[in-house]
Amino acid sequence: MNKNKRHLRGSRWVRSTAVFLLTGMILAGCSQDADPETKEEPGSDPLVRTALTLYKQQCASCHGGGLKGRVGPNLRRIGARMSQEEIAAKITDGGGGMPAFKQELSTDEIGMLTEWLAAKR
Ligand code: HEC
Repeated sequence: MNKNKRHLRGSRWVRSTAVFLLTGMILAGCSQDADPETKEEPGSDPLVRTALTLYKQQCASCHGGGLKGRVGPNLRRIGARMSQEEIAAKITDGGGGMPAFKQELSTDEIGMLTEWLAAKR
C-alpha cells in the first residue's frame, strides 16, 4: 500500500514536470526574442515596434544589425551625440552619403524613428 502511494506520487511528479517543461518550450517558442537585425526586443511599446520595422526596412542595410554601423555610422549611442532635431533633419534631408527619406517616410514615421534613436544613449 505504502509502495503504491509513493509510486502514484512519483508519476504525478513526472507528469507535472513534463507539463512544466512543455509549457516552458511553448513559451520560449512564442516569446519575442531579440530581433536579429536590431538586437532589440520589440516589447509591447507600439512606437518601438514601428521604429524597429522601419529601421529594418529602410536603415539596417547601411546602419547594420544592432545599429552597429556598416556603410553608415554606428547609431547605438546616437542620442548622446545628436539632438532630436538633428536626427530628424538627418533622416529627412540626408547628406554626406545618407539618403534623404522625406519621400520614403511620412513625418510621423520619421518622428517615431527619431524618438526611438534619440533614446539610444
Ligand atoms: C544608403 C545608406 C544609408 C541608409 C539606407 C541610411 N543611412 Fe543613415 N547614414 C548613412 C551615412 C553614409 C551616414 C553618414 C553621413 C555623414 O557622415 O554625414 C549616415 C548618417 C546617419 C545619421 C547621423 C549619424 C552620425 O553619427 O552623424 C543618422 C541619425 C542616420 N544616418 C539615421 C538613419 C536612419 C534612421 C535611416 C533609415 C530611415 C538611415 N539612416 C538610412 C547611410 C545610410
